[in-house]
Amino acid sequence: MKEEVVKTNQQVYFSQSDIDYDDLAKICSQKTLQEDYPFADSVSNNVVIYDANYLETFIGDSENELRLKTELHQVLEGGPGVFVIRNLYRHDAIDQSNNIFEKIVESEGNTSNDHFASGTNTRIWNAFQKVALEDPNAFISYYSNNLLKLVAESWCGPNSQMTAQVNIVRPGGEMQKPHRDYHLGFQENQIVELFPISAHRLSNYLTLQGGVAHTDMPLASGPTMVLPYSQQYELGYLAWRDNACTDFFNDNAVQNQMNKGDGIFFNPALLHGAGSNTTKDFHRIGNLLQISSPFGKTMERIDYLKIINRIYPLLLEHSINKTLSEKLIENVLVCATDGYAFPTNLDNDKNSNSKLQGMTMFELTKQSLLDLVNLENFSLKLLEHQKIRFTN
Ligand SMILES: [Fe+2]
Repeated sequence: MKEEVVKTNQQVYFSQSDIDYDDLAKICSQKTLQEDYPFADSVSNNVVIYDANYLETFIGDSENELRLKTELHQVLEGGPGVFVIRNLYRHDAIDQSNNIFEKIVESEGNTSNDHFASGTNTRIWNAFQKVALEDPNAFISYYSNNLLKLVAESWCGPNSQMTAQVNIVRPGGEMQKPHRDYHLGFQENQIVELFPISAHRLSNYLTLQGGVAHTDMPLASGPTMVLPYSQQYELGYLAWRDNACTDFFNDNAVQNQMNKGDGIFFNPALLHGAGSNTTKDFHRIGNLLQISSPFGKTMERIDYLKIINRIYPLLLEHSINKTLSEKLIENVLVCATDGYAFPTNLDNDKNSNSKLQGMTMFELTKQSLLDLVNLENFSLKLLEHQKIRFTN
């Protein structure tokens, strides 16, 4: 067996100052050749285009399904990172959903907004659950789609978890700031810097982003803008907030018109952003799908509420008497609380403009100890915090 050389001198942690736009430009100068993707219908603006009517012929034959999943995976990983499937949904399925969306928007009073744009768009957070509860028939017909399952498996493997958010962009709706998506795409730069580069790479594989056009999306209505191949730039999670990155995106991103029922799928590390709706009277509706790898789950289910309520009085004593340093208490909290902001209820857990995520249980507990809040008040705060995040 060949002896492997163990590399010990490679940089593991990166900061914004390591970003090199020449690298990004070189990566994004790659051209997509249709001959590399034999099942594709065409290539448009460097994006691979498939037709659902043809892809359907692969369903039911495990060898063919494997060949197709392999090709889709290659588009997402070493290829442009994005593909479109024309005619993924029939118009009647879309119309059925749109009627339900309308009902939900009415009942919610049109108040939700999105993470990456200000202005006149409307969000239905967790449309996945809301549609299931509103109309089980519509839910079943939408999520029984064979190609949707195959696409999910092509990136996340089996047993992935679906979430969906509806985005309605009104005339005059502004362009989203180009960004990367969940997980690391939702973290501030100073947090992203704390993750080794291996975790940056891993983040690409933990979700697949998708969007189904629920109306036609002519270019003027602002279908998703993407920067093909940008998912291959390893420092992209640190770069997207940088103005130079936005400039590069604006100069090089591409946009393909979508028809009602078409789907777009991309690597979450692909730089992208919804375009602006410059029409006077056209409401663009997209159902954004986020498909999560099952690997984001723990092996055992832990009741952090029970643990923290039990140990809080002791931690408070340590805080008051200074018998444990802040740092050592923090070490305990990292283990004894949930320090991650997700999953949450995005209707209730409002993000501010500067931050993409609400307060975590870790932050709440740490702050309560610093403020010397007693157990009774801490427990009440915690209950309220949990209610906001986990009641649907
Ligand atoms: Fe996004």
